[in-house]
Amino acid sequence: MGEGNLKKHIKKLKHSIEYHNYRYYILDAPEISDGEYDQLMRELIQIEKEHPELITPDSPTQRVGGGPLKEFPSMIHRIPLLSLDNAMDTQELREFHQRVIRQGRKDITVYCCEPKFDGLAVELVYENGIFTRGGTRGDGTTGEDVTQNLKTIKSIPLRLMTDIPPDLLEVRGEVVMYKSEFKRLNNKRAQRGEALFANPRNSAAGSLRQLDPTITASRSLMFFAYAISEPLPFGIETQSQALKMLPLFGFKVNPDVKVCKGIEEVIDFVAYVEKRREEFPYEIDGVVVKVDSIRYQEMLGTKARAPRWAIAYKFPPTQATTTLKHIHVQVGRTGVLTPVAILEPVKIGGVTVSRATLHNEDEIKRKDIRIGDAVLVQRAGDVIPEVLGPIKSRRTGDEEIFSMPDKCPECGSNVVKDGALFRCINMTCPAIVKERVYHFASKDAFDIDGLGKRTIDQMVNILHIKHISDLYRLRYEDLMKLDGFADQSIKNLLASIERSKDISLERFIYALGIGHVGQSIAQDLADYFKTLENFLSADYDKLIAIPGIGHEVADSIKVFCKNKENLKVIDDLISMGVRIKSRETQEKKEPVFSNKKVCFTGTLNAMSRSQAKIEVEALGGHVVESVSRQLDCLVVGDAPGSKLKKAEALGIKILDEDAFLRLLKGVNI
Ligand code: IVH
Repeated sequence: MGEGNLKKHIKKLKHSIEYHNYRYYILDAPEISDGEYDQLMRELIQIEKEHPELITPDSPTQRVGGGPLKEFPSMIHRIPLLSLDNAMDTQELREFHQRVIRQGRKDITVYCCEPKFDGLAVELVYENGIFTRGGTRGDGTTGEDVTQNLKTIKSIPLRLMTDIPPDLLEVRGEVVMYKSEFKRLNNKRAQRGEALFANPRNSAAGSLRQLDPTITASRSLMFFAYAISEPLPFGIETQSQALKMLPLFGFKVNPDVKVCKGIEEVIDFVAYVEKRREEFPYEIDGVVVKVDSIRYQEMLGTKARAPRWAIAYKFPPTQATTTLKHIHVQVGRTGVLTPVAILEPVKIGGVTVSRATLHNEDEIKRKDIRIGDAVLVQRAGDVIPEVLGPIKSRRTGDEEIFSMPDKCPECGSNVVKDGALFRCINMTCPAIVKERVYHFASKDAFDIDGLGKRTIDQMVNILHIKHISDLYRLRYEDLMKLDGFADQSIKNLLASIERSKDISLERFIYALGIGHVGQSIAQDLADYFKTLENFLSADYDKLIAIPGIGHEVADSIKVFCKNKENLKVIDDLISMGVRIKSRETQEKKEPVFSNKKVCFTGTLNAMSRSQAKIEVEALGGHVVESVSRQLDCLVVGDAPGSKLKKAEALGIKILDEDAFLRLLKGVNI
């Protein structure tokens, strides 16, 4: 290929990659598979390797270019990034509106309302259509130049999607970390014993302010554009037009924006967003209300640090301070002792919180949390409330330093330290037995109908059952001794215990409650070993060779399978009549998606779209691109698009990612 042709080919390749990137990250509607996308990238990388002189800064290969920095240069914002005044209630929103119409004109009543991202404000500079510089807000005038790191964010276009780019375009917006990514990251950090991030915002900030861009690239961050500086020369007259224009350049904007006429509509919208606050895949902490007309904005002007034409309505906080009264040590299924904070009850976002997790002793030490401390507690969404840290300035000197007990608080046996964890090693400790039986009887394990926690507690306390296998020894006379049981309920329970004896290998393995062996790993193990005997005699190397099984899991399985007590319980289960259905004897079921039409919206965390498509097709389904009456179900990932509303309107079955994954595994939902 001649140099001219090669350049043309590179240009075509780059455009094609950018286009598919846009389909994937901005529109959530990929047209090609991940494999095909990777193929395009590989081709470009290869050509650039042979012709480094043809590499340009906007090439998709340059998202992770350059090595680590020593420090960030500063970046002066041509036009300062302002902050916003807050409104704490609807009264303050009405007062804002009064000021607007007093200082402006009566007809300034159109507001553009946008959920307020709880992330990190940044400015991106595009010169002749190319992303050249980007920085954090800093003090509004000077921020840090984090261009290299911003380039790793796939929702930031490296080149504007236009053939006639403006000389200069400054785009402002927010870098956020999705809640799912935050959880994934913190889980990983907890496993490695690293300090945890307090919330997605800190985590986004920490990830963006990494001197080594490869670290930023490994944390999936998202950029949402919410403004361009000086929109009028672009023919943009309103904020809502700016939000319509930004996607045309290749940016992601918040789809949940509303143009409201008058303050009452604003108040309704604010209430609506507040109610749905938890449903956003990223954290929001309020609604930003902006006068829509840019000319009116200019007329109203700004004060020292904040504009007169906008206000942030803030939601009630998800954090509060209270007193740590006591630390209760809870014993889990595998004997691990977990410290739980017992708090002076405090209301956070409308819910009373009186217990919170403290993770483990190392976390307590690292944060220097003491009994009696005033502590900062966070309750965000569906996650367990947690103690973020002590407020040291309020210490009186009477606070007590906590240390893990050396005897199990439930049975008094010795506690041993195992890495960062403490364990009770008495496997007949009543607390452990209870947890094991809860797990054993649960829906995804032996699924024993009618055997709830209260009954199990009584079985351990009154009937002294010590092993899961003891469940199958229970007789009518035993159950008579339990509270709340009579003839019929006893017969029902005995029948469901009997019914549970036929079980698949994956459920059996899961039910054993081996540390780190959740449903998905149990499934992989069953698929690989096929029989219980093979599984129990597997050696370490075989285990580690199974994709998705690491050293930690393999260790845990080996320790479990070497333990004589555990093997005795397994023998006991079999001799009590538990039958493991072999793969062949498991009845052949219709595949779950047999002849079903399935559509996707939003981003799945566990797999790519193309993988999901393969999975659905393997189970007899067809994947379609759009929502219609003929659709059987819509699978909804993070940041779903308009398909969700349409499917809801048509009354089509909607599955979240968890439900979808369970269906793939053949678990009924
Ligand atoms: S507009 C003058 N729009 O809120 C207008 N800001 O205190 C200033 N923020 O740090 C910004 N979502 O990062 C605007 N949709 C949104 C926003 C938003 C979040 C943040 C912004 C800034 C803070 C302002």
